Amino acid sequence: EWAERGAAKIVQEVTNPATGKKIKRVMKKGIKDFKFGENLGDGSYSTVILATSKDSGKKYALKILNKEYLIRQKKVKYVNIEKNALQRLNNSRGIVKLFFTFQDESSLYFLLEYAPNGDFLSVIKKFGSLNEECASYYSAQVIDAIDFIHSKGIIHRDIKPENILLDKDMKVKLTDFGTAKILKSKEGTTESFDLLTRAKSFVGTAEYVSPELLNDSYVDYRCDIWAFGCILFQMIAGKPPFKATNEYLTFQKVMKVQYAFTAGFPLVIRDLVKKILMKQPDQRLSIPQIKKHYFFEGKNFNDASIWSDAPPEIQ
Ligand code: ADE
Repeated sequence: EWAERGAAKIVQEVTNPATGKKIKRVMKKGIKDFKFGENLGDGSYSTVILATSKDSGKKYALKILNKEYLIRQKKVKYVNIEKNALQRLNNSRGIVKLFFTFQDESSLYFLLEYAPNGDFLSVIKKFGSLNEECASYYSAQVIDAIDFIHSKGIIHRDIKPENILLDKDMKVKLTDFGTAKILKSKEGTTESFDLLTRAKSFVGTAEYVSPELLNDSYVDYRCDIWAFGCILFQMIAGKPPFKATNEYLTFQKVMKVQYAFTAGFPLVIRDLVKKILMKQPDQRLSIPQIKKHYFFEGKNFNDASIWSDAPPEIQ
């Protein structure tokens, strides 16, 4: 499954200058074809660094996973899930693009689209919090991207601000599908997935984890909607709704749905957050209901305008 050691096959269409005919050129790409730059982030078992193609000058984000470590920690399965999820979602709006994967003796590599504006957590930290207009702009893209991955039968299970990247145009790109659940399509159909399939899960990130995961350790697609509610709260409050000095206390708060709106928290967003952060998944607003909420009044989710509109100045 993984490309030949140290190389990935790239098929490029080129025009033969002598004949004018289009021909397919097969090139092998590997580590030697890139120059490496700054560290873009560290995951629990991976490192992402900036990589520049020596021949095109194009920038990529190279995710590096150490094989020995993956085997020792029994994480090989998750690397394949990430690869399969990204391939299923590839070339989609709102999802980080996977160009190809390759490997050498020591590591596995994912060559990913580089999102030069970093992750959403850094934006929230830099500005402290966002105003209503910015929250509406970015949360519309986040919920639409979540809707899209669900339509492709993928539950992310670790949606959080660090996993929301911003591309050169400040458009949202979801990343890190290493803990995703990939659903099989329903019997006899091609593009229909049983999103209510309950997946035995593990704790993603304490602050964004849903109560059902803590109570019975099973989740379905609605755990991503819960995480969305937490992120929407965080955009306004500057901090996630469930946060304590340690994980245990954070979990206690999540299970009791114990959170408080900060002073001046806009009423319209309060209303939406309250209806999403419901302990029972079946009481939570669904994605179509979220899109129809009056916080998103004036946004059209059907014509891609939320993706083509210029981003508001962050403040
Ligand atoms: N950090 C993690 N992945 C990244 C990417 N694709 N682009 C920029 N920063 C990242």
